[in-house]
Amino acid sequence: MRPRSLSHLGVLTSGGDSPGMNAAVRAVVRAIAHHGLRSSSIQRGFDGCIKGSIAPMGPRDVSNIISRGGTILGSARSEEFRTAEGRTIAAKQLRDQGIDGLVVIGGDGTFTGAHILEQEHGIPCIGLPGTIDNDLVGTDRTIGFDTAIHTAVDAIDKIRDTASSHDRLFFVEVMGRDTGYIAMQCALACGAEYVMIPEVVQSVDQLLDALSAGAGKKSSNIVIVAEGDEEGGAFVIADKVRDRTSSYDIRVSVLGHIQRGGSPTANDRILASRTGVAAVEAMLKGQSSCMVGLVNDEIAITPFKQAIAGVKTIQPDLMRVLAILSI
Ligand code: F6P
Repeated sequence: MRPRSLSHLGVLTSGGDSPGMNAAVRAVVRAIAHHGLRSSSIQRGFDGCIKGSIAPMGPRDVSNIISRGGTILGSARSEEFRTAEGRTIAAKQLRDQGIDGLVVIGGDGTFTGAHILEQEHGIPCIGLPGTIDNDLVGTDRTIGFDTAIHTAVDAIDKIRDTASSHDRLFFVEVMGRDTGYIAMQCALACGAEYVMIPEVVQSVDQLLDALSAGAGKKSSNIVIVAEGDEEGGAFVIADKVRDRTSSYDIRVSVLGHIQRGGSPTANDRILASRTGVAAVEAMLKGQSSCMVGLVNDEIAITPFKQAIAGVKTIQPDLMRVLAILSI
C-alpha cells in the first residue's frame, strides 16, 4: 500500500448519534492537525455534504467537547444521499472546498454511504464505529455502547427498587433494532430474570417457564427486551403474557432515547480517541473504504463491506450464565 498525499480532510457524524462521537471528532481533528493537514467540519452528516454546510475546523474548535454527549456536528439520515444525483452533488461540494478525503463517524448506514461515495467519485473515506448498538463486525465495542449500557443499567436498577416494593413483573425495553447487545449486557449487569433478544429465538411460553421457576420465591421479576425481538417489543410481549396468565402484576418501561444521550464513559472516550488517531494515520498510509475499530485492545482495520455485512454474534454462553444466576 502506497502512502497517500492528502491535504484537507472532512469529518462528519451520521446516523443515530452516540455518546463519544464528540470525543471522536476531537481526536480526528487533532490528529489531522498533528500531521500537518487541514480539516473541515461537515454539519448533519451527508446532508451537509449535499448542502455545502462545510467550514474549516481546527484543534481549538474541539476544545472541551470530549465529555459532551450528542455530536456538535449534528447528525442526520440523508434520503437525498441515497440517490446517485445526491452523491454527485455531495462529491462536487467536497471537491469545491478542496476536501480530498473524508472521515465518517457512524454505523452501518454511514459506512454504506461512504463506501458508495468512494466507489463512484474516488473520494477516499475511512470510518469510526459510532453507534450504541455494537452491531459492527471488526470492533469489540462501538463508540457509545459502554455509555448506553451504563445509562440503561442505572435506570433498570431504579426499576428494580420499585418492582421489589410492589412484587411486580417488569418488561424493560432497551434499544437494539436488529441486535440484542445492549439487552444482553444489561440483563447480566442488572441480575435480570430473563432476556429476549433477536439473535436467539425464544417463545413467550419459554419465558413463562423460566419465570415460574422462581414463583413464590422472588419479590420481583425483570425481563429485558431488545426492541428488535422477534416476539415484539416490551408492550407486545407483556400483552402476550397477560393473555396467558394473571399470576403477575405487570408493568412496562421503555427506556428509549435516554440511552443515546449523556456524557460518555471513560471507556468510550478512550475508544474514540484511539480509533480517531488511527483512522487519520491509516488514511495517510493509503487505507480507505474501511472502518477502524479495536479488537483485543489492538487497532483493527476492517473493510466497510465486511463491517456492515458480517454478523456479529452474541456469545451463547452469556445466556447460560444469565440462566444460572437468575434462579
Ligand atoms: O442508534 C441506533 C438505534 O439506537 C437503534 O437501536 C434504534 O432502533 C434507532 O437508533 C432509533 O433511532 P432514531 O429514533 O434516531 O431513528
